[in-house]
Amino acid sequence: MDVENCRFSQEEMKQKINDLKKKKGAVILAHYYQQGPIQDIADYTGDSLAMAQYAATLKDVNIIVVCGVHFMGETAKLLCPDKKVLIPDLEAGCSLADSCPAPEYEKFIKEHPGHTVVSYVNTSVGVKALTDILVTSGNAHKIINSLPQDEKIIFGPDRNLGNYINSVTGRNMLLWDGACHVHEKFSVEKIVELKKQYPQAKVLVHPECKRPVVLLADKVGSTAALLKYATESDADQFIVATESGILHQMQKDCPDKTFIPAPPDDSTTCGCNDCSYMKLNTLEKLYDCLLNELPEIHIDPSLAEAARKPIERMLQLS
Ligand code: 13P
Ligand code: SF4
Repeated sequence: MDVENCRFSQEEMKQKINDLKKKKGAVILAHYYQQGPIQDIADYTGDSLAMAQYAATLKDVNIIVVCGVHFMGETAKLLCPDKKVLIPDLEAGCSLADSCPAPEYEKFIKEHPGHTVVSYVNTSVGVKALTDILVTSGNAHKIINSLPQDEKIIFGPDRNLGNYINSVTGRNMLLWDGACHVHEKFSVEKIVELKKQYPQAKVLVHPECKRPVVLLADKVGSTAALLKYATESDADQFIVATESGILHQMQKDCPDKTFIPAPPDDSTTCGCNDCSYMKLNTLEKLYDCLLNELPEIHIDPSLAEAARKPIERMLQLS
């Protein structure tokens, strides 16, 4: 943040971001895990599938600012190679993507020939380039179901999402042993404790959570699917086992309902489970990013075509 930004109030900052956006022909996309003020100022807020689908439709814009993590910026850039794609903080990575280095994934694939490689979008460009079809938590079930029942499949990098998809589709996909540090931390004991306090509450769980947490769920789904369920449900209390940023949109869409964040197992005071990478983005950094048109996402040209294909395949099958 430049020193001058400290002088702006949040309202002034929002005005300046909107002015810059207009002047530069920019569009802001935000993930549901972003801070509330970023979700509110974005032109479009959604889960990782919806962000990719929206980016693919953008025509008359010069700049796309992706308020999310690095792989989300890369997905937008792969889909919109002629646009400038910015991200407020280049350090906003993803522990799940980090749990699957491309050279090791390549070795794993070579050790198991004859498999279709299906990877979660939470991956590096190098991993995408090794992949036949990408999926998100919002379409993994549907896409796996669309493949012949006897097709041999490698699924990476999230073992929890892979286990969940195996359980609901009856498949036996070969799983890469990766995980997200946020979703792995939800505590079964603390959710059971909350259920005693709020017996009527429905339990909403992201499929990146471990199996014992998934087994407690009334609804398992992507952030968008959990939001939809909460909006359409007759229940008025919900225990939410995913990154706490989603509670902002849930509360906005359902002001009369109660949303209780499921705590991580190492929580002491605050009950929330935050993704430290997602929360690196701030309104100030968003302003600087639009002002300076930096940091920009660049894709290794030798990988771009191979990495774009499985995203396009995903969008066709979604
Ligand atoms: P969604 O697919 O629900 O957007 O989740 C993305 C993610 O990073 C989950 O941790
Ligand atoms: Fe990655 Fe987990 Fe953060 Fe999602 S919540 S961006 S999977 S580290």
